[in-house]
Amino acid sequence: MNLDCVVLAAGLGTRMKSAIPKVLHTVCGIPMLKAVITAAKTLNPERILVVIGKQGELIKNTIGSHEVSYVLQGEPRGTGHALRCARPALRNSKGVIVVLNGDTPLLKPDTIKKFLHHHKKDKNTISVLSFNARNPEHYGRIIRNASGQVVSIVEHRDADSGQKEINEVNSGVYAINHDVLDILDKITENPAKGEYYLTDIIAAASRKNLRTSAYCIGTEEEFMGINTREELSRASALMRRNIIQAWIAKGVNFLDAGSVYIHPDVSIGKETTIYPNVCLEGHTKIGKGSVIYPNVRVRNSDIGNGVVIKDSTVIEDSRVKDRASVGPLACLRPGSQVGTAVRIGNFVEIKKSVIGERTKASHLSYIGDAIVGKDVNIGAGTITCNYDGRAKHTTEIEDGAFIGSDTQLVAPVRIGKGAYIGAGSTITRDVPPMSLATSRVCQTNKEGWAQKRQSKAKSEKLKVKKEEKA
Ligand code: UD1
Ligand code: CA
Repeated sequence: MNLDCVVLAAGLGTRMKSAIPKVLHTVCGIPMLKAVITAAKTLNPERILVVIGKQGELIKNTIGSHEVSYVLQGEPRGTGHALRCARPALRNSKGVIVVLNGDTPLLKPDTIKKFLHHHKKDKNTISVLSFNARNPEHYGRIIRNASGQVVSIVEHRDADSGQKEINEVNSGVYAINHDVLDILDKITENPAKGEYYLTDIIAAASRKNLRTSAYCIGTEEEFMGINTREELSRASALMRRNIIQAWIAKGVNFLDAGSVYIHPDVSIGKETTIYPNVCLEGHTKIGKGSVIYPNVRVRNSDIGNGVVIKDSTVIEDSRVKDRASVGPLACLRPGSQVGTAVRIGNFVEIKKSVIGERTKASHLSYIGDAIVGKDVNIGAGTITCNYDGRAKHTTEIEDGAFIGSDTQLVAPVRIGKGAYIGAGSTITRDVPPMSLATSRVCQTNKEGWAQKRQSKAKSEKLKVKKEEKA
């Protein structure tokens, strides 16, 4: 079907009591407008037009311009006026215009597709998607005539007591054939609010005997409009539950699903187990059969199959390959690549470094701007001194090297293949392959030194006592 989408996002959102535009408030880490755009994209529209208002620049900066085009509504004069502002941009439209509100982040593409199917099959000119609300107060009521045909939509504040009894309400999703868009000129200012209501196109269309239908196929949860922070937190909780249920259905194991946060763009493989208090954020991918222990946060990272992330670990913009183990209490900062079957242990921080297969850094280390080969052993307390106060420098550790505990590698520096660094060394020059480097003070043992010291102390004490008596 040839269609264009218009997302209305120019409202002031005053009920949020917030400095940022309402549609940029997030549900499960995603601005609600972004969630609506993602749903719109699945309809394969020719274009997605987003109507923005006063804080439009902020919206553009957050959402970007590669998937959508923007239309400006100078003054927020109502939803009908908002769609009117999009008309010049819609002049080449050929098919159906699908209108969505920017504040309904839970809508499901399948429901909209079903709705569009009805619109087309019934040869309507205008259709609206409706649902039954337990508390219809925040929504426009669907008014039907004796034969069940929709004749108008009445907002709560304009409804009479009989209309207030109606539970069927407007979801804010409309399908309008492009050739009847001039119906927008027929709507007049609402006297109570001084706005042009898009809802009034239904009455205008039925006056002109245009084929118009309301399809009550939505669920309240899915078409919940977010006007207040209370609704925002309810929507977040619902989205979070939906996301987790979908992963459970796909074979992911949660020990305490209620305590886990998973953003919508995350993917998780089968038979992966997620412990309590885990946050999986952004574009994170977790492979199959992995285990994520409690209090772990992973953001925009790719975690392989059979990986174990132990307790209280943070991983950001990084990659962990199959069968690796990270944590407990480890930190992978952006740009880290942990190879297959690597072991990263407690209190190890890695930044912008590549760690080769089977390498181990089991305790207390900082590895930054480093390229570490395969089968390397990094002893406890190893530090790459990557920063000289001005610039960052690279440390290279080649395959099979052994870095003794408490070593400082002052970059730029290279440790050759198979080389050994003695514990406690400060390495400032390259170490050739298969060699041993130590840079600490040589040990000297003074035998009997402590004994001599003790007897010296004893004789001094005796001398003092004698002097006191005398
Ligand atoms: C609107 C509908 C109501 C429906 C409900 C569904 C109208 C008059 N009412 O009510 O029937 O049940 O949505 O959630 O349409 N917007 C603009 N420009 C404006 C005003 C609003 O772009 O001048 C945008 C808002 O940013 C928002 C959307 O339109 O994303 C809906 O506006 P909102 O004020 O939330 O309408 P509701 O009162 O919820
Ligand atoms: Ca709303």
